[in-house]
Amino acid sequence: MSSKLIIALDFPEANKAMQFVNQLSPAECKLKIGFELFISAGPEIVKQLTEKGFDIFLDLKFHDIPNTVASVCKAAAKLDVWMMNVHASGGSKMMSAAVEALNGFEQPPKLIAVSVLTSMTDDQLQQLGVNAIAENQVARLAKLAKQSGLDGMVCSAKEATLLRELMGENFLLVTPGIRPLGVEKGDQARVMTPSEAIKAGADYIVVGRPITRSSQPLQVIAEINAELIGAS
Ligand code: C5P
Repeated sequence: MSSKLIIALDFPEANKAMQFVNQLSPAECKLKIGFELFISAGPEIVKQLTEKGFDIFLDLKFHDIPNTVASVCKAAAKLDVWMMNVHASGGSKMMSAAVEALNGFEQPPKLIAVSVLTSMTDDQLQQLGVNAIAENQVARLAKLAKQSGLDGMVCSAKEATLLRELMGENFLLVTPGIRPLGVEKGDQARVMTPSEAIKAGADYIVVGRPITRSSQPLQVIAEINAELIGAS
């Protein structure tokens, strides 16, 4: 069974990321490449990691006019990534254009939505003219993403129960903000353990620093995978 663990490769440069990844096997995790690593290491690191057999979640949160997002999704799909994401607040036309752009690929990447960033408060949404509390806005954007043909969304594990209920089974939920028991929370305020997230309805969990900053990352990965299997 392939792992439900996605490791956030938040490293400042390719060498450090590769040094870390060289200890890992694609059977035990998938890898998320975000802005930090992509801006410094570029598409080359995506190619290197897919060639090693890793499923790559390209977390670049595209948000632009439909034509531009469609083109960038095609460019990303050519890198053979497993998953990528767009901002749901780009609207249904933008999301549908992204879905259409991927249709021509034999094995299209999974396309998921980012809804309300977890750093946003209800007050900040008000400032933007959004007259809904964050939870309702997340639910609204999730429905729009599904109607537009997306495969799922990134959400906080705290939202997973509600979204699973609203969206049914056929919608991927990918949850960051995960901390195994006994691990420092860092800057993540509202966290869940790996098994709590899966029980709440998550399909995949994203874990970064508890693994990448550990002195024994392989042990942490093994423990998380055992916990995920137990919770499934
Ligand atoms: O190190 P940590 O486990 O906190 O990393 C979580 C990863 O998930 C980071 O790459 C972070 O950018 C990402 N993320 C998040 N919260 C969100 C969306 C993405 O922590 N709401």
